[in-house]
Amino acid sequence: MKLSAVISAAALTLALSAVSAFADGIGDINSDGDINVTDLMMISAHVKSEKPLQEECFAFADANEDGDINVTDVMMVAAHVKGLRSLDGSFVAPEPEPEPEPEPTGPVIEVIDGVTYVDGILIANKSYALPQNYGNGLTTETLNAFYDMQRGASYDGISLWICSGFRSYWDQNYLYWNYVKRDGQAAADTYSARPGHSEHQTGLAIDINNASRSFNGSREAQWIAAHCAEYGFILRYPQGKEDKTGFMYESWHVRYVGKELAGKITDSGLCLEEYLGIDSYYH
Ligand code: DAL
Ligand code: ZN
Repeated sequence: MKLSAVISAAALTLALSAVSAFADGIGDINSDGDINVTDLMMISAHVKSEKPLQEECFAFADANEDGDINVTDVMMVAAHVKGLRSLDGSFVAPEPEPEPEPEPTGPVIEVIDGVTYVDGILIANKSYALPQNYGNGLTTETLNAFYDMQRGASYDGISLWICSGFRSYWDQNYLYWNYVKRDGQAAADTYSARPGHSEHQTGLAIDINNASRSFNGSREAQWIAAHCAEYGFILRYPQGKEDKTGFMYESWHVRYVGKELAGKITDSGLCLEEYLGIDSYYH
C-alpha cells in the first residue's frame, strides 16, 4: 500500500488520541514552534527516502520514541495535524468547509419612474400599479409577436385577432366603473382591473378574439394555450390560479414576455406571480 494511503487512512482515526501525545518539541521537525503540514512533509519525505532529515531533527521526528523514524511516526504527526488528507502522495491542507448555501433571496423589485419591474419584468397587477400617464399603445415587439402567432395559427386553420390591446388608464377607468355599476365592486374586482392596475396599460397584453367566458375551451383558446409560448406569450390568468393572479381564468388574455421566458414560465406550470414570487391584491 502506498505510504500516502496508509497515512490518510490512519491519520483520521488517530487524530484525536494523538493530539496531546507530543512533548519536548517532538513532531515539530523544523523547530518553528508549530506542528503542521511542513513538519509532516518533512518526516514523510524522510520515510519515503525522498529527502532525508538532518540528524539534529531525528529526535523530533521519532514521535513514538522507539528509536526509529518510520510510517508510525508519520501517522502520528499526520494525526496531530488534524484534517489533513493526502493527494497523490503529497500533503495538502484540508479544503475549507463549503460556504453554507445563501438563504434564497426574494425577487428583486425595482420601481423606475413609478413602473414596477420584478427581476426585470414589468408588472401590473393588483399589488403593483402603473402611473396614470404610462403607455401609448402595444409595443412593437408585442405586436410583431402577435402577427407571428397569428400567421402560425392560420397554418393550423385557426383565426386569431386582437379584440383588445392597449388600454390607457382612462379607458380602464371607464370600463372598470361600468362593471362596478353593473355587477358591484366585489364581482368586478374578480375580472376587471382597477385603473392603473390593468396589464392592458403596459402595452404587452392582448385579449384575443373574444374576451368572454364563452371563449374558454374553444379551438382557438386551446390553440393559444398550446402555442402562445412559442411566440413569446404566456397565458396570464390561468385556470386554478385565481388566488395568485387575483383574477378569474381568462383563456383569451396573453402577455408578452419574450420567447425564452414564456417557455420557462409555461413549462413551470406557474402563473407569473408564482414564478416571480410576488402577490396580487389591492393594498
Ligand atoms: N381583465 C383584466 C384582468 C383587466 O381588466 O386588465
Ligand atoms: Zn385582457
